[in-house]
Amino acid sequence: MIIAVDGPTASGKGTIARALAEEFGLPHLDTGLLYRAVGRQAVISDFNPDDPVEALCACGFPDELLNDPELRTEETGGLASRVSVHPGVREALYERQRSFALQEGGAVLDGRDIGTVIIPEEADAKLFVTASAAARASRRFREMQSNGVETTLEEITAQIEARDKRDEEREDSPLKPAEDAYVLDTTLMKKEEAISAAIRAVKRMVEDG
Ligand code: DC
Repeated sequence: MIIAVDGPTASGKGTIARALAEEFGLPHLDTGLLYRAVGRQAVISDFNPDDPVEALCACGFPDELLNDPELRTEETGGLASRVSVHPGVREALYERQRSFALQEGGAVLDGRDIGTVIIPEEADAKLFVTASAAARASRRFREMQSNGVETTLEEITAQIEARDKRDEEREDSPLKPAEDAYVLDTTLMKKEEAISAAIRAVKRMVEDG
């Protein structure tokens, strides 16, 4: 079984993808982490993330970088969004994502373009997880507060809106639901409800072929 989970920042797609991986006993790849590693490598190497050639050079990051806690910060998320607009960067990460998806036994991948670009034909189930910008901002804000990060709701809202805009408006593989994706709006859902709804939707899509 191959499952694609796409959606905007802080929509809960990562939580849902991990829960699906556990439910169905599948390996999981958070593809945002690959773009985050490219953004982080650009900073480490003093490359300009907005320059397509310099950003492409950052794609040669070492695998250990994927374990760097710095990858999880909002700052690195913003850098990832900036490097991800370059077609060369997307192409450099394409094969790694496809081979993970097509490994024997199946997989769950979460990102922005899994159902539309990476495995449009191969996915057995496609979810597009979304929530209002206000709901996503307040979830992210609470998460940051509980991690002791000093920030404001206004700052988080502005970051989320900037990231949505860049991810949706880029020319190459913009963030959008695949035509055959099940759109799961989690604005009014608690985490457990969203997970159950996702499991039900995947089972239905797999049964319907
Ligand atoms: O899911 P995330 O917040 O870790 O992703 C960080 C950025 O990486 C996101 O803003 C856009 C980019 N990205 C992408 O373009 N395609 C993906 N499949 C995953 C992430």
